[in-house]
Amino acid sequence: MKVEQIDFALLGDERGRLTVIEENRHIPFPIKRVYYIYDTLPDVIRGCHAHRKLKQIAIVMQGSCDFILDDGHEKVSVHLDSPTRGLVLDEMVWHEMHNFAEGTVLMVLASDYYDESDYIRDYDAYLKEVAP
Ligand code: TYD
Repeated sequence: MKVEQIDFALLGDERGRLTVIEENRHIPFPIKRVYYIYDTLPDVIRGCHAHRKLKQIAIVMQGSCDFILDDGHEKVSVHLDSPTRGLVLDEMVWHEMHNFAEGTVLMVLASDYYDESDYIRDYDAYLKEVAP
């Protein structure tokens, strides 16, 4: 499956680094929600769902983790460890997050408000919906 990543500019000077993300310029949708995952316990696997309509961009602000993306045909693993890189999580892509390094902060920009009815949390149900 095709993996899409967005590289954000690294600005900065002798004082340190700065990265900026602007809606519709760097992110291909209006950002309606931001959430972040942190203090994740070792060996925890998060995600394990797909969204019917939601689009998201995941950015590791600090630390690292591995994403497994699955479009129902193919699975790919993507290692994220940079605050200047966003991983596109399109609708109907099953995603899991593994191997959180201690201190990891994972920020997600989402195209819509939280809506539990948009989630598919059962993998067999996902396979039936994605490729009936
Ligand atoms: P969950 O989707 O299980 O987290 P992850 O997929 O990252 O492992 O979400 C954990 C809990 O937080 C769950 O009860 C739903 C709730 N939640 C919200 O209320 N709003 C949100 O925007 C998100 C992402 C989760």
